[in-house]
Amino acid sequence: MRTLKSERYIMTRKLLVAGNWKLNGSIAMTNDLISAITNGLSDSNRFDVALFPPFVYLPQASKLVGSKIVLGAQTVSEHAKGAFTGEVSAAMLKEVGCQMVLVGHSERREYFNESNQDIAKKFQVAQAQGLKPILCCGETLEQRESGVTEQVVAQQINAVIDLVGIGAFADAVIAYEPIWAIGTGVTASSEQAQEVHAFIRTLLSLKSDTIAPLVPILYGGSVKGSNAKELFSMQDIDGGLIGGASLTANDFLAICQQADKLS
Ligand code: PGA
Repeated sequence: MRTLKSERYIMTRKLLVAGNWKLNGSIAMTNDLISAITNGLSDSNRFDVALFPPFVYLPQASKLVGSKIVLGAQTVSEHAKGAFTGEVSAAMLKEVGCQMVLVGHSERREYFNESNQDIAKKFQVAQAQGLKPILCCGETLEQRESGVTEQVVAQQINAVIDLVGIGAFADAVIAYEPIWAIGTGVTASSEQAQEVHAFIRTLLSLKSDTIAPLVPILYGGSVKGSNAKELFSMQDIDGGLIGGASLTANDFLAICQQADKLS
């Protein structure tokens, strides 16, 4: 576990390596991948691992994960129940063994028109059912180039703070994922990522300087075994949200090995 010194606190944040399978998988892949990852992880427990398979594989995954891996879903309905065809509620996710859920992934924002307010609602319903939300945020290339990265990220995070309050972040994770780095093979440099992570932590500290140092902030966007060490060793980068490289055990375990070395 890393010990980080902030101005007023000496505290610890465990690294988290989270695999987001997106729209990928099958019954066979769920079996094979979870078994291979479980076998490849040591018993050290010095860093956390979470997997986010598609909804339909969650009950099966839940039987396979054991104590080394936390299970999560890729999204959740903001509604508790009723006439919302195709939706899955937080209580349902909890019932099939989820402990975490992604909210506000950029693909949900872009392709499914989820607004900052929708995402804030999802964060709220998830926590109400005891699921830990991973709130995703990040800017497009156009936004970065026009110098509004911090403004965009602040709006995305403040919309959630406005609804649930800063206290709710004591039991949540943030993932900074620049959209231009997702699935493109282009990774933000560790300095570029750290700059935004530090901004996020400062933003949180404006509301509470006791909560801010506690919140794990993951980086996402083309993380691989070869760049994980550099990224995860930055002061405010507490692990990664991994897409493409979470679909093969070797690639995912290579990232886990770097987290283990830094823990
Ligand atoms: P990537 O995806 O690792 O394939 O870039 C990351 C994500 O979208 O969470």
